[in-house]
Amino acid sequence: MDEQKKNMLSLIQPTNTPHLGNYLGAMRNWVKMQNEYNCFFGIADLHSITVRQDPVKLRAQIKESYALLIAAGLDPEKSVLFVQGHNPTHAELSWVLSCYTQFGELSRMTQFKDKSAKHPDNINAGLFTYPVLMAADILLYQANYVPVGQDQLQHLELARNIVQRFNGIYGDVFTMPEGYITKSTAKVMSLQEPTKKMSKSDENANASVWVLDDRDTIIRKFKRAVTDSETEICAREGKDGIINLMSIYSAATDKSFEEIEREFNGKGYGEFKLAVGEAVADMLAPMQSEFKRISADKSYVEQCMKDGAEKAYKFSRKTLSKVYKKVGFVTF
Ligand code: TYM
Repeated sequence: MDEQKKNMLSLIQPTNTPHLGNYLGAMRNWVKMQNEYNCFFGIADLHSITVRQDPVKLRAQIKESYALLIAAGLDPEKSVLFVQGHNPTHAELSWVLSCYTQFGELSRMTQFKDKSAKHPDNINAGLFTYPVLMAADILLYQANYVPVGQDQLQHLELARNIVQRFNGIYGDVFTMPEGYITKSTAKVMSLQEPTKKMSKSDENANASVWVLDDRDTIIRKFKRAVTDSETEICAREGKDGIINLMSIYSAATDKSFEEIEREFNGKGYGEFKLAVGEAVADMLAPMQSEFKRISADKSYVEQCMKDGAEKAYKFSRKTLSKVYKKVGFVTF
């Protein structure tokens, strides 16, 4: 850990293979951070069981998501890559913080409201206290920055309120975290309903592009992307589908919106969609082949997980001990 550097933390749920939104909104940005910050990145397995999971599938997805972090370019020697459930301090701090979080605050969380509406037969207490666990994730590592997509900002704001409240009582225990957002890809939209974010739980198979989709599938999904009845490729208001495709193309090729408008001036949507599909397939190809290579070496992935868990525990344990002392527990 380099004392001169600031800390960064972010996690991803292993509820499915990551999609293009997870990749562009989060994972890809993490890779760019690992030289500049002390980085902690991980798999939020504890969070994932707020919605029922098939145990066999979940176990496979945790391993897959972890290997994908490495395949995306995160170096386990530089960044601490860990699985949340391998480090007991997350659940421990979460309990303490839940006593410093108000019922009313949690009731206002839009994700809780959305997921409760989606799973009316399983509105469990974990779904309600989900943001407290997320605050624990962030605060344990004294994270200055939390690189996430826009959908996580409300949770981050709650974590900030908890810091203010806790530090207000006990002094400087936690670092105040800030969001770290890449504007153009903070919210990648569904390819089928471009006013809705791309989501892991979307039932429409053409709505999301999974990072392990093969080239033909990726291109086919982009060809079928919903746009509008006009013909012009530009970022005008109301053209949500085209704006989404332009943002994705821009992220995949590093071209600006002006360059894209020029490139496709006078060309049709069909040609543009094909170009976006090809660019995305090209962008994901190196990660896909790295994934194949890494996941074939099961003992390497397992060793990385063990090392990551140890490093994560070593750091977070210090924060937890400080918290226990501050609130008045007997510690040795
Ligand atoms: P999760 O697993 O839903 O998503 C992982 C990351 O991907 C971002 N994201 C998106 N970005 C752009 N466009 C989209 N359509 C899109 N969909 C998702 C998310 O914002 C996130 O950054 N609660 C978190 C996991 C978590 C966490 C944490 C994050 C647990 N503890 C502590 C940060 C810090 C979640 O469910 O992310």
